[in-house]
Parts: sequence; structure tokens; C-alpha cells
Amino acid sequence: MDEQKDKQKELEKVAEEIRESDLPLKESATNLVFGKGNPDAEIMFIGEAPGEKEDLQGVPFVGAAGRELDKLLHLLGLTLADVYIANILKYRPPNNRDPLPDEIRAHTPYLVKQIRIIKPKVIATLGNFATKFVLAKFDVESMKRIGGISFLHGKPVHIEADGLDFTVIPMYHPAAMLYKPPLRKVIEEDFLKMGEFLGLETRKGEARKDKPLTEFFQP
Ligand code: URA
Repeated sequence: MDEQKDKQKELEKVAEEIRESDLPLKESATNLVFGKGNPDAEIMFIGEAPGEKEDLQGVPFVGAAGRELDKLLHLLGLTLADVYIANILKYRPPNNRDPLPDEIRAHTPYLVKQIRIIKPKVIATLGNFATKFVLAKFDVESMKRIGGISFLHGKPVHIEADGLDFTVIPMYHPAAMLYKPPLRKVIEEDFLKMGEFLGLETRKGEARKDKPLTEFFQP
């Protein structure tokens, strides 16, 4: 518990650093969207960028994609007390456009700070941008050398980068199944495989309703 509190304090300092910075996209955004979940989690999820709902609430994954992510977590019996969730970009890009290389370059040092504090054993990357950034070992210039999510999804990769040691599990972004419904089955299978990799007792095809997704920590 003490370690959790220390990590939470360290995360708060990073969030404060961002608030004091003049990061690209800050001017057009409503709120900083830093992260949510348990700072001491062994599993960290990394998404792309806040959307409209996230921007308004200052919390990642609270819109339609977030509801899908919640269902996928339930499939594994996980709640926000078991995971930490953050994004590549800390502020919403206008009209949810793709992140630009300069924005990724400016925002990701804070994501790497979050990863260093949390020290997750497993990082599940959601979608192409997060997958490429983490598999490129946090080097934005090398992202273009990494394959696409349709080839990489569901296959764990062990990474040693910057003194950190973790397993990456690339995943389709949960929003992908909203515009391509046949991907739902693929994404659910990938999550179930991740559950097996983590040694979790999963319930195939059945969301767990006994664990509410209410507990969360946020700086
Ligand atoms: N999509 C993301 O990648 N992140 C969010 O926080 C919300 C939607």
C-alpha cells in the first residue's frame, strides 16, 4: 500500500510537470488526460489519444471505446484496481485526428515517466500508435520500422528498453470493433489469450459482473 501511495505521488508530480509545460495541443484541449487505475498495477494499457468525452472529463477511456475496454477487462475478471491506463498523447488532437510525429515526440517522454514509475510486467498496447511506439523501444524515429497491428496483435513480445524489462502484448484498439464489427471476436480472443498469458482465470464469452469497475485512482 505504501508503495502504491509513493507511486501515486510520483505520478502526481509528472501530471503537474505537464500542466506547467506548454505541450502541443494544450491550447486547443479542455483538460489534461493523464491516466487512471492502480499505480502499482502489473498490467498497463496504453491507448492513442483522448477523444471528446475524455477531453471533457480529463479521464482516459470514458467514451464509447472506454465502454468496450471495460467489457474486455471484465472478460478477464479485471477491474481498474488491477490495471493502469494511459495514452500516447496527453491532450486531445482536434477532431480526433491522428497524432503527428512532433506531438508524439513531445508527449511521450511523460508516458515513459509513467511507465518508469508504474514498472508494469505487461504492457498491452491498444492500436497502431501505441504498439509501434513501445515496440520501437520508445524511439519515435524507429516507429516506421514496426509492422502494423493486423500482423502483431495478440502475440507477446519481450522488451528490454532503457533499463526496463516487460512483455508487450499488442492489441487492436477497442474502437476498431465499433467501426469493424467482425473484429470484436478477434479482439475478445486476443484478450482471452492475454488472460491465459497472465495466468488469470477467464470466463470465455461471459463478462464478470461480480467485480464493479468503480475503484480508480487519478492524479
Ligand atoms: N481512445 C484512446 O486511445 N484513448 C482514450 O483515452 C480514449 C479513446
